[in-house]
Amino acid sequence: MHGFFVFSKRGSKIGGVSVTLYFASVLPGLEDVLSDEINHKLIDSEVIQINRGKVFFTAAESFTCFNSLRSADNLFQVLDQFQIGPHKKHLSQVRERISQLDLGFMGRKDAFWVNASRKGKQTYSRFEVAKEAIEGIHKRYPDWKIGTSRNHQIEFRIDVEHHHVIFSLRLTKATFRFRNQRRRFSPASLRPPVAHAMVWLSEPASTDVFVDPCCGSGTILSERGAYPADEIVGGDISDEITKIAKSNLDGLEVVVHVWDARKLPFSDGCVDKVVTNLPFGRQISPDGDLQLFNHQMMHEIWRVLKPNGRAVILSDSANQLFWEAERLDLYCLKSYLLSLKGLNPTLFVFEKQGRT
Ligand SMILES: C[S@@+](CC[C@H](N)C(=O)[O-])C[C@H]1O[C@@H](n2cnc3c(N)ncnc32)[C@H](O)[C@@H]1O
Repeated sequence: MHGFFVFSKRGSKIGGVSVTLYFASVLPGLEDVLSDEINHKLIDSEVIQINRGKVFFTAAESFTCFNSLRSADNLFQVLDQFQIGPHKKHLSQVRERISQLDLGFMGRKDAFWVNASRKGKQTYSRFEVAKEAIEGIHKRYPDWKIGTSRNHQIEFRIDVEHHHVIFSLRLTKATFRFRNQRRRFSPASLRPPVAHAMVWLSEPASTDVFVDPCCGSGTILSERGAYPADEIVGGDISDEITKIAKSNLDGLEVVVHVWDARKLPFSDGCVDKVVTNLPFGRQISPDGDLQLFNHQMMHEIWRVLKPNGRAVILSDSANQLFWEAERLDLYCLKSYLLSLKGLNPTLFVFEKQGRT
């Protein structure tokens, strides 16, 4: 944590309106994308701090449209913040502070649990922090049941970062980032929030012809389906994987083909947006040479894009993609270094310059 928030209490008033402090967890590297989504989707909200993997924002206390923030992994409501010392003797401060909190607004007596994280040089563990927080809640609300890490209905979270403590309530279920539905995944599937961040960077428009040339299990196509489009099309070289994509996309107006993405069935300059996660070296290798594949893919993406069309591409061949793009006159608008499945792929946003 880099410093304190100016905002300190749940339900503070700003300009006469009651607002609450929330934070969303997000894949490290995508914090700015989520902030942009929050700014666009939540009226009267304000992003007030960005830390690695977390975006803090204020919104009306009555804010309930959690599902609309699709780049977020999870959402939390901040209930309290305070300072703590580094030694075991300071731990009782957690219990005392939390026992004074009014959590009656939850109006429920379901089983609760507290998860903890700890960063810094303390002589106590995160489990000891969680235990103190549980005891604090139980002191104030003795009739609330203490659950287990696997079995609870209410989940609190306590994050100790050096001297700073944030105590929060988890608002989203564990299934939130999987869109609360049964999905089938391929070995290289993206998590839906990452796929959404890619879609968001393409700036979805209702007139879009949108293509994912290497769609795998269809995660990007499925996220694009959350917004209106003229056409959403995807494909994969594997017949088996396209079957998985079709079952995941059931009910959406999305067309899925078996194709070789190096020869897409589109004429020159007719696609508005290409968003794709190219095969990674260590995950799924296309037949033959990855460098040659990337070279051919970049040319094909450039060919089908309209002038000023956008390509959002996730790849772990960052250097190659950069110089391929330069050669093709694809202008790099932004790039993000991510931390994903033990790799550090780069997410590029390219725009085709105005010649076909
Ligand atoms: C990284 S995965 C995409 C994962 C996808 N975004 C998802 O969430 O499921 C890359 C995909 O490219 C496909 N692929 C490899 N070579 C291809 C080619 N020549 N044409 C089309 N797809 C290809 C693989 O079968 C694989 O499903």
